[in-house]
Amino acid sequence: MHDPVVQATSLGKQYSGGFRAKPIQALSDFSLTVHRGEVFGLLGPNGAGKTTFIKALLGVIRPTSGSATLLGQPIGTPASRFRVGYLPEQHRFPGYLTAVQALDLYARLSGHDAPSRKSESVRLLGRVGLAEWADTKVKKFSKGMMQRLGLAQALMGDPELVILDEPTDGVDPIGRREIRDLVTWLSQSGTTVFLNSHLLSEVEMVCTRAAILNDGKLVGQGSIAELTTAPAAYEAQGTPVDAGLPGLPDGVTHDGELPWATYRIHADSPEELTAMLGQLIKAGVTLRQVTSGKRTLEQAFVEIVADAEAAN
Ligand SMILES: Nc1ncnc2c1ncn2[C@@H]1O[C@H](COP(=O)(O)OP(=O)(O)O)[C@@H](O)[C@H]1O
Ligand SMILES: [Mg+2]
Repeated sequence: MHDPVVQATSLGKQYSGGFRAKPIQALSDFSLTVHRGEVFGLLGPNGAGKTTFIKALLGVIRPTSGSATLLGQPIGTPASRFRVGYLPEQHRFPGYLTAVQALDLYARLSGHDAPSRKSESVRLLGRVGLAEWADTKVKKFSKGMMQRLGLAQALMGDPELVILDEPTDGVDPIGRREIRDLVTWLSQSGTTVFLNSHLLSEVEMVCTRAAILNDGKLVGQGSIAELTTAPAAYEAQGTPVDAGLPGLPDGVTHDGELPWATYRIHADSPEELTAMLGQLIKAGVTLRQVTSGKRTLEQAFVEIVADAEAAN
């Protein structure tokens, strides 16, 4: 379980900016560990460096500093890629091929021999729900079907790790749901999944852990539960008081819904929280529960990125 499937240590990538342009530092000092069995999401706005990281892992580009391993093998070596499936960002299949021909082409490229190719392609199309479209030309496919076909390609040979770059980008809600279900199924069948996305709610729904990348730098990581726990924010439920009443402490806001009101409390330490709860009790509130405040992954992302930029 704690066997690292992806391990990056201080990885950096600088692109030469081309003729007379400034070089671009796409990734800086980026360290990350993904364990076996995780569904790990790398989040970040467009241009944050997510695709750069994936390409460096797969040996498509060479990092300019740092090191990394995939399934225990140094990146850039064929052995590191042997058990890895990859769905590239905005991939294309030749439109004149049928779904089964497209997969057959990839099976051939990855060295499957003729007898196993056809059966493997048919099996994978069934797996991604495209069995009845096997003989339809790819140019007729919707974006969601294209992504599922791409996923089938990535699953060829039963990889231990599947890397998906923006798997749901441009896909409609039903298609996104189908892709999420496939990711969940993959994870349940023991495959480690690493995905890039700028779609935060997608990551929130499917990933067990996530890292946030901004401007090439890691600015946050943790389980989805950790990332969505708002620091210094708590919610207490209790009997309502008149919001105008003296005694409602500073930093407490109040929704006076009967029969229980929700108090939002901003406190930087347990001592401060306890003092504020004391003031609420003094104001006549009967409490029934206190919890850590929650934020959506999107709010977490905005706050974490803003904190990182303020710290610079
Ligand atoms: N081949 C390249 N040459 C020069 N700059 C690049 C190249 N690929 C990406 N970049 C730049 O590196 C930064 C990170 O890009 P990318 O990794 O594609 O981000 P993301 O996948 O998070 O949208 C961006 O500023 C992008 O313009
Ligand atoms: Mg990208």
